Amino acid sequence: MRTIIEPFRIKVVEPIRMTTREQRERILDEAGYNVFLIHAENVLIDLLTDSGTGAMSSLQWSGIMRGDESYAGAKSWYVFRERIQELTGFEHILPTHQGRASERILFELVGGPGKVVPNNNHFDTTRANVEHTGAKAVDLVIEEGKHPTSRHPFKGNIDLEKLENLINEVGTEHIPLVMVTVTNNSGGGQPVSLENLRAVRKLCDRYGLPFFLDACRFAENAYFIKRREPGQRDRSVRAIVREMFELVDGATISAKKDGLVNIGGVLLLRDDALAQKADELLILTEGFVTYGGLAGRDLEAMAQGFEEVVDEDYLQYRIRATEYLGEKLLAAGIQIVEPPGGHAIYIDAKHFCPHIPPEQFPGQALVCGLYRHAGIRAVEIGSVMFGQGGNVPAMELVRLAIPRRVYTQSHLDYVVEATTEVFEQRDQLRGLEIASQPPALRHFTARFREL
Ligand SMILES: Cc1ncc(COP(=O)(O)O)c(C=O)c1O
Repeated sequence: MRTIIEPFRIKVVEPIRMTTREQRERILDEAGYNVFLIHAENVLIDLLTDSGTGAMSSLQWSGIMRGDESYAGAKSWYVFRERIQELTGFEHILPTHQGRASERILFELVGGPGKVVPNNNHFDTTRANVEHTGAKAVDLVIEEGKHPTSRHPFKGNIDLEKLENLINEVGTEHIPLVMVTVTNNSGGGQPVSLENLRAVRKLCDRYGLPFFLDACRFAENAYFIKRREPGQRDRSVRAIVREMFELVDGATISAKKDGLVNIGGVLLLRDDALAQKADELLILTEGFVTYGGLAGRDLEAMAQGFEEVVDEDYLQYRIRATEYLGEKLLAAGIQIVEPPGGHAIYIDAKHFCPHIPPEQFPGQALVCGLYRHAGIRAVEIGSVMFGQGGNVPAMELVRLAIPRRVYTQSHLDYVVEATTEVFEQRDQLRGLEIASQPPALRHFTARFREL
């Protein structure tokens, strides 16, 4: 069959609310032109993030009822631990309340002033957690990963030459670990090849450095490897996932993505001494080692989610849905980061609004335009998110992130129609200036004025 269907049927529905253009104008103005500050009930199609916004399955909901809420040694913890061990091969498994809690624990232990952490592209919370310790976060994605129209199949790959140069430049004693983000969220949701991961492993071995994954979207990355990498087509996604984890010394995971849950995270570690210290920090700020920052029921839902996410029918539908949205936007003349990534489509805002210079935030202007026109909530990934402190991001992007198992094909068709209409009237989009901002992670709370 050519038609790829949603491999599930719908048992529970949640109404979404239409608003008028006049209402949305007022809502946008009251929110200081920052869609993070809009009440979610005033959003029709919410593509702000794919994180924690997915729909759980009937088996996950039944796991919620089975959850054992014992403080220590709960049955749900053992179910969860066994599932993660089976999937990843890791022995030290720490449950946290979400990805950034894993990052906070890890970098508190290995970061600090004078340290340098390379990554293909740090996600914003990863960068913030590295920098919070006084360490420096360095992005080393391959050159193709910075160009929206490059069709490289693995644009998330880290540049091995630049990585080796950095190691030689700063010295291994200043590099606590090398990290690679799969898929590369800040670089367009693009996958990293197994070949690249194997080569990073070799390089790390040569210099005696630990290698970690930011593995939020490990299953989507593994599916791309299966589809695109020579020699991988006949392997199961589960086998590819296992190899990805076997290559590394640890991983931070936000289970709000490929864990298919609304809250949860994991920190995986191989080193016994580091795991011991991490357990101590976990107890200090998250909770006892058999529940971390979660309830027993959350562990049950995560255990089931990590099982469902490696189902290849699910992954085929998931990746095709994103590709479908990307293909339709490209056909309408809208430049996106090509080829479409796993969890989101990234619109090139410089191309969409050539009349708005980066210092007037073209991505934010487009985000406001989409909300005003059709009640769609997207997010800017450009000068607002990464431009604080004089940093100049390589791309001005707007991300349309697709929650897992939530929207149907007609919802995506609506998004295509609305985005195309905004594109046809793009000269009406206006640049913005910042009215107020916090000292870090400004995209969450900054307020803007339209110019
Ligand atoms: C690549 C990546 N790393 C880390 C995180 C942080 O995870 P969380 O939001 O669960 O703290 C995210 C969240 O979007 C992410 O996409």
